Amino acid sequence: MTTAQLADGPESYVMSGVPIRIDRVTKTFGEDGDNPFEALKEINIDIEPGEFVSVVGPSGCGKSTLMLMVAGLLSRSSGNILVGGNSVTKPITDVGIAFQDHLLLEFRNAMANVTLQADIRKLPKKKIEARAKELFELLRLTHAMEKYPRQLSGGMRQRVSLVRTLVHDPSVILMDEPFGALDALTRLQVRMDLEALWLRRRPTVLFITHSVEEAVGLSDRIFVMSPSPGRVVDEIKVNLPRPRPIVLGDAPEFAAYVDKILDHFEKMGVIHGANVPKVRKVES
Ligand SMILES: Nc1ncnc2c1ncn2[C@@H]1O[C@H](COP(=O)(O)OP(=O)(O)O)[C@@H](O)[C@H]1O
Ligand SMILES: [Mg+2]
Repeated sequence: MTTAQLADGPESYVMSGVPIRIDRVTKTFGEDGDNPFEALKEINIDIEPGEFVSVVGPSGCGKSTLMLMVAGLLSRSSGNILVGGNSVTKPITDVGIAFQDHLLLEFRNAMANVTLQADIRKLPKKKIEARAKELFELLRLTHAMEKYPRQLSGGMRQRVSLVRTLVHDPSVILMDEPFGALDALTRLQVRMDLEALWLRRRPTVLFITHSVEEAVGLSDRIFVMSPSPGRVVDEIKVNLPRPRPIVLGDAPEFAAYVDKILDHFEKMGVIHGANVPKVRKVES
């Protein structure tokens, strides 16, 4: 099944997302101690319902901290976070979360891993199983439903984890470098699968990555962050049609977005190599 077919199901254009508003949020670790550490400074990020937004920044700039605060798993020092219009004061529930470590339980097979949260949250099991089967099929994983994590490749495990993130059709999806552990080819595949699944129901996505290409490949808008203390230094709207092709590197409009973001990192001293063309075209 191609990405276009995947994205073209009967559910196309269903919008399930809610807005996310991050309003002047700061985070200082150890505020009350002798060594306070300012991790995030005055972060403002507004996300429209159904929008796919990425935050890209160097390691240690506070991306994971930001995501944990949006999820309600970590308190903020000041500012406000609203999800679906409600101020976040405890872990939010209508959410799918994915981390770099997919954290599948070894003693549960793929299906049982996916339905775990249905069991915990006491969601209707039959409905969740039916939805899981549908997602397994869309991700070409039907044969893997009964298999245990150790019997699956890294890419398959990550796709099982994607099914688990999406199975209860959350209105918000938070992903923290979910593809970091994958090889480059698998990463491309899972990126396309994610875009296709997102297009079907349009949850609101906050996607965290240090991969500039991945951010441009997936996002409607990208927030670029500076190193510690993390601040937003630019907001870039990505006007590329969807579904986006698997290989974007040659397209000049794609390269221009990548260059723009890399310029920021060069200016911040995160990467070096001024005057080197960042995206080169191979002459044929
Ligand atoms: N619980 C914590 N206590 C103290 N410092 C922390 C804690 N969590 C993260 N930090 C620090 O905050 C900064 C941002 O961390 P993090 O959000 O994990 O960055 P990123 O995800 O962008 O790599 C880092 O310098 C990190 O060491
Ligand atoms: Mg992180």
